Amino acid sequence: MKWLRVTQVENIPVRQGRVVRFGSLELAIFNLGGAFRAVESRCPHKQGPLADGIVAGDDIICPLHNWRISLDSGFVKQPKEHAETCVKSFPCRVEQGVVMVAIPEDVLREAAA
Ligand code: FES
Repeated sequence: MKWLRVTQVENIPVRQGRVVRFGSLELAIFNLGGAFRAVESRCPHKQGPLADGIVAGDDIICPLHNWRISLDSGFVKQPKEHAETCVKSFPCRVEQGVVMVAIPEDVLREAAA
């Protein structure tokens, strides 16, 4: 795991998401107010832009067809018949006012190739 700087905390307003790219890896980073979450940016349904979705508690609701995805686990919560489907989620923390995300080394290598 490698911790990477994303942006200053104030650049992601509470209950909003922003896209960040590391090579070909595109993540959606969300400010839940007191905590940040990072998941792959594209919805597992039809690639909707999750960063533009609506934050509802610890979930994100995709702006295209309203699939509800847990930002903690990455798993789809609704529709329930797709509960086995998920996006990858990545640990986040704040360090001296900067949002940091942890990416596995192999994922980073693949994204840089
Ligand atoms: S693309 Fe996200 S719900 Fe359809």
